[in-house]
Amino acid sequence: MQSTLINQALHVAIIMDGNGRWATRRGLPRTAGHREGVQTVRRVVEAASDLGVSALTLFAFSSDNWRRPDTEVRALMGLLRHYLRTECKRLIDGGARLTVIGRRDRLPRGLADEIGTVEQASANCQQLDLRVAIDYSARDAIASAAAAWGASDLPSREAFARLIGPAGEARCRDVDLLIRTGGEKRLSDFLLWEAAYAELCFIDTLWPDFGRDDLAAALADFRRRERRFGGLGQGNALASVG
Ligand code: IPE
Ligand code: IPE
Ligand code: MG
Repeated sequence: MQSTLINQALHVAIIMDGNGRWATRRGLPRTAGHREGVQTVRRVVEAASDLGVSALTLFAFSSDNWRRPDTEVRALMGLLRHYLRTECKRLIDGGARLTVIGRRDRLPRGLADEIGTVEQASANCQQLDLRVAIDYSARDAIASAAAAWGASDLPSREAFARLIGPAGEARCRDVDLLIRTGGEKRLSDFLLWEAAYAELCFIDTLWPDFGRDDLAAALADFRRRERRFGGLGQGNALASVG
């Protein structure tokens, strides 16, 4: 299907929250919620480019999620591996280029290699820039960029942004719309730099219940908002002339 907003770069980031509660409410183990959450990822990735999204960053596992019980962490890592194996072809067919952001040195054996394989295989896809955050902490990303800068003079915002983004990317992309499902109203250490001027959308729906219509509704709400970036809104700008 043709994109509704061709040529207009739109970066949506999603904190995919609520899998555990979804399962618990049904008397199921939390891991059942994570499994269901993977289905939502498939739906949302497919819907994203149809709805005019050019970049989609999904928070899959935070650096603080290592605090969870071993069994849950193992299940999540297993699902990530399974997703990479089963989705690679579908991603490429759909024109999605996959990049994983976050640390790779603490992942279970072999997972970093599998990530690299899908990244390489999808490197030339141009329909959707799909970024998945795994073992990701925005504060760690900012601290690493500061360490990489090293010099005593202050970097420009642009120079610093280049150090925060994934290696090889010209710069990290500012987030236009940040969605969090599951009802909590916090950022949980996700894209703190990139979301400086993001429009925030907190949705009560639990991630396994989220779908194309919810994404479309969030985008419709986003398009009604006036982004001012510290300047004056259109009405005020006109009023201030003369
Ligand atoms: C989000 O769902 C998925 C991850 C953090 C990996 P949760 O597992 O946090 O679900 P809740 O918030 O406990 O319902
Ligand atoms: C944020 O959700 C991380 C992901 C969705 C991957 P959490 O469930 O870990 O966040 P907190 O603990 O409620 O802040
Ligand atoms: Mg949660």
